[in-house]
Amino acid sequence: MRKIAISLSKGGVSKSTSSVTIAHGLSLKGKKVLLIDTDDQGQDSFLLGVKPPHGLAEVLNEVLPVEECIFAARPNLWILSGGKSLAGAKRLIGRKEFGAERSLSEALKPLEDKFDYVILYTSPSWDTLTINSLFYAEEVLTPVSLEVLTLNSLVEFSKSIESVKKYNNKLEHTYVRLTFFDGRVKKSNEIIDQLKKYFNTKVCEPIKYNVRLSEAAGFGKTIFEYDPTSQGAKDYKKLVERILNDEK
Ligand SMILES: Nc1ncnc2c1ncn2[C@@H]1O[C@H](COP(=O)(O)OP(=O)(O)OP(=O)(O)O)[C@@H](O)[C@H]1O
Ligand SMILES: [Mg+2]
Repeated sequence: MRKIAISLSKGGVSKSTSSVTIAHGLSLKGKKVLLIDTDDQGQDSFLLGVKPPHGLAEVLNEVLPVEECIFAARPNLWILSGGKSLAGAKRLIGRKEFGAERSLSEALKPLEDKFDYVILYTSPSWDTLTINSLFYAEEVLTPVSLEVLTLNSLVEFSKSIESVKKYNNKLEHTYVRLTFFDGRVKKSNEIIDQLKKYFNTKVCEPIKYNVRLSEAAGFGKTIFEYDPTSQGAKDYKKLVERILNDEK
């Protein structure tokens, strides 16, 4: 079971879009996928056009068993949804005397090996659920946009991952992926070259700017449903194939 966190402590870099699209893309390839939304914005279920009655908050608050909180969003694709109620769950974790960082790992134990992929979407902040996600995950995919502030966040975030690795030695920063890519902008290619020097093979093919991706969001459909022939769908299909190729 591969556990991949889609994560960067920075807003608006397409973490939600990536998590939902990658999860759906993998499920369309016949993989059993669980998407976990650890953000109190709860956008992943909105993007999939579903309203699960329960989610991650009930699991962390030990109100319901995790098996009852996962929601079938598509064939082969389940979601453990986020949302406002996670605020209370975060407070509960914060009050724990020990083992706080492993609360999510403990809560997800009953699901071990029940899926081929667990995709975790983390919030733009370095909060307790982001840390919990990195204690649980074994791989990290970081979407970055070509802006100085985002690239700064990437450097800081990479350092944070190194710190977490001391406690979770399975964790690898597997993929760095550019988004909103526009080849006409000269600095785009320069920044890609710099990133490749720094991250070597981790840099994936970029996802181009494609308005169909943001339109799809308003219809509760993924790009594979909304416009499967669009550039956005093609770019994400390639990324999904790269992830599948890296299966051990
Ligand atoms: N390749 C793309 N081309 C054009 N628009 C995109 C692309 N990827 C994502 N978007 C749009 O950009 C906006 C930000 O994306 P998204 O919500 O996925 O980012 P996020 O990192 O999850 O943001 P936040 O940190 O606020 O949760 C959304 O409106 C989304 O529809
Ligand atoms: Mg988001």
